[in-house]
Amino acid sequence: GCGGGGDGTQAGGGDGPLTIGFSQVGAESGWRTANTQSIQEAAAAAGVDLKFSDAQQKQENQIKAIRSFIQQRVDVIAFSPVVESGWETVLKEAKTANIPVILTDRAVDSPDTTLYKTFLGSDFVAEGRKSGEWLTKEFGAATGPVRIVELQGTTGSAPANDRKAGFAEVIGKDPKFQVVASQTGEFTRSKGKEVMEAFLKSQGKIDVLYAHNDDMALGAIEAIEGAGLKPGTDVKIVSVDGVRDALQALADGKINFVVECNPLLGTQLMDLAKKVAAGEAVPPRVETQETVFDQAAAKAALPERKY
Ligand code: AHR
Repeated sequence: GCGGGGDGTQAGGGDGPLTIGFSQVGAESGWRTANTQSIQEAAAAAGVDLKFSDAQQKQENQIKAIRSFIQQRVDVIAFSPVVESGWETVLKEAKTANIPVILTDRAVDSPDTTLYKTFLGSDFVAEGRKSGEWLTKEFGAATGPVRIVELQGTTGSAPANDRKAGFAEVIGKDPKFQVVASQTGEFTRSKGKEVMEAFLKSQGKIDVLYAHNDDMALGAIEAIEGAGLKPGTDVKIVSVDGVRDALQALADGKINFVVECNPLLGTQLMDLAKKVAAGEAVPPRVETQETVFDQAAAKAALPERKY
């Protein structure tokens, strides 16, 4: 080393463990809880000092947390942006302070890619396409119209925007597929239930529910059963994530198809953080590997499913 300046591998310039400030979206879903746990466990295993902050689904809380991380001179800032827009000012502040930023799980829509080092997470457009592809196969022989309701994720979030777009792109090739209602269920069970109850009252026959995440699908199942209908039979359901409860519902025939979104980003995040803190090059985009589940795949995966 070179005395008081440390070995130069850490942006904060201090000795001791690597410090990461992480601003999480909230605790809105089973996916999110698994994601938080993965990051906390990976930090502990890597000997990283993790400063964890829960934004409770509010962008202003995330901006405050990032400013506080800058003030504390953490080595790396990582965050999962609740919405896509409105990050430039605070990310410029981090850049000016020379603190590298890693986007985790969700992207920002700024064209200035120098504001962050890398983006680790899923391809949400691909997830939307996979949902649509399942649907077009499942209803391949149907004459139509196929009446679809959509429960969107958090308004303005990357997964809501992208899953909507990927799905629309695929089903849009055949006019028999009609999205008759589409509204946000905020990625939560309670809101998914509430909005599905309203859809069931206002829409007449509903053939399909496309839910942007499992929690909303699980809430909607309660609404469908409450209306005296059979989820998975009277209303076919496709959702995204692959949390245990949804794979169980798929095994039980209440959900028909689940597109995986992998929340276990912790280990990759720690590796990337160590590299960017050391000034090493990292790929600008690190995509998560994921699969899809039909009923047989869900039954096979359940015994090992950790979240
Ligand atoms: O950003 C990932 C999404 O956020 C998950 O699909 C959803 O469950 C979570 O809340």
